[in-house]
Amino acid sequence: MENINVLKNDFTELFKKDSKNVYFSPGRVNLIGEHTDYNGGNVFPCALTIGTYALVTKRSDKKVLVSSLNFKELGIIEFNLENMVYDKAHDWANYPKGVIKTFENHGFNITNGFEILFYGNIPNGSGLSSSASIEVLMGVILNETFNLNIDMVDIVKMCQEAENKFIGVNCGIMDQFAIGMGKDNCAILLDCNTLNYSYSNIDMEGYKIVIANTNKKRGLADSKYNERRSECEDALAKIQKVKNIKALGELTEEEFEEVKDCIGDPIKIKRAKHAVYENRRTLKAVKALEENDLALFGKFMNASHVSLRDDYEVTGIELDTLVALAWETEGVIGARMTGAGFGGCTVNIVKEDCIDAFIEKVKKAYTDKIGYEPDFYVVNISGGARKLS
Ligand code: GLA
Repeated sequence: MENINVLKNDFTELFKKDSKNVYFSPGRVNLIGEHTDYNGGNVFPCALTIGTYALVTKRSDKKVLVSSLNFKELGIIEFNLENMVYDKAHDWANYPKGVIKTFENHGFNITNGFEILFYGNIPNGSGLSSSASIEVLMGVILNETFNLNIDMVDIVKMCQEAENKFIGVNCGIMDQFAIGMGKDNCAILLDCNTLNYSYSNIDMEGYKIVIANTNKKRGLADSKYNERRSECEDALAKIQKVKNIKALGELTEEEFEEVKDCIGDPIKIKRAKHAVYENRRTLKAVKALEENDLALFGKFMNASHVSLRDDYEVTGIELDTLVALAWETEGVIGARMTGAGFGGCTVNIVKEDCIDAFIEKVKKAYTDKIGYEPDFYVVNISGGARKLS
């Protein structure tokens, strides 16, 4: 963060005591493998150097007091460890609350309350996982503060469970996993069926990851997300009548083509096709990257966007405009939407000395067409959620 001391002063002013316990949890960007995690496929995300910071102090009673500099107007939100229920009025604080509750449900004893001040420099609702970043941060804080000794993968799983059951968004495991298990300069190839994973060094000599934010307000994103998920589940159930598989991610493209007609509904065939092809594309893309073929990796990114646009239908004019502009801009190796879609961000691999011109051109053309400006972030890859001091 720009200045931890500023956050420390804010903490003291707010809670009338000092905190020396500083935590950080990254945001994430997914390079390829979109809407594959809950279909038992592969994803290839990385953790970012932007993320969420927190200062923490322990209390002697059971009260939890949380505040966020990003939602100053909501002030201090207070709840009690003995009454952990979802409360709409608690707004963003339902994320940390859901994680605490989930830890308790798993038998971890959270003996005392605490104060936490959060500050995030991930743009909220941009699809860079500001909510998963808070969740995993809360998980790491509980683990450290109460000496729980929980493995990071188990923290990640409980954070996903909190999002699924407490918040009610049926997300896969990608975001929490990338945020918990991120590693400097590496993307993670994660098989969401088995949770086997490996790190790939992202050493793109002369190129950078540039994220472009549509700045579109994402009203219906959660319900549309859940809808896609159930469309894929329906497609899988039909295929399971003729083939013994547990997830769409197990199918090759050829196997899918052989059985797809049994799905019946043409929309669901398209959804399942994306899940199967995107999964295979992800493996091919990672192989290309490992063979230092960045140009081929970029082509797979572009193909991923086309599939998300035409078959999965989770893009929209804002994302499509940003991506189409990127594709026709000099120095761009690949561009696609990233995250859930329906707004949010695109991820672009851009030649370093072309970045300024890229931003200028895309910003102007996007603003002319859409009517408001996009934002751009040139990002670096960081390690996962951790205690800083
Ligand atoms: C959101 C979800 C993830 C994943 C992506 C799409 O970010 O939280 O689990 O499904 O969308 O790839």
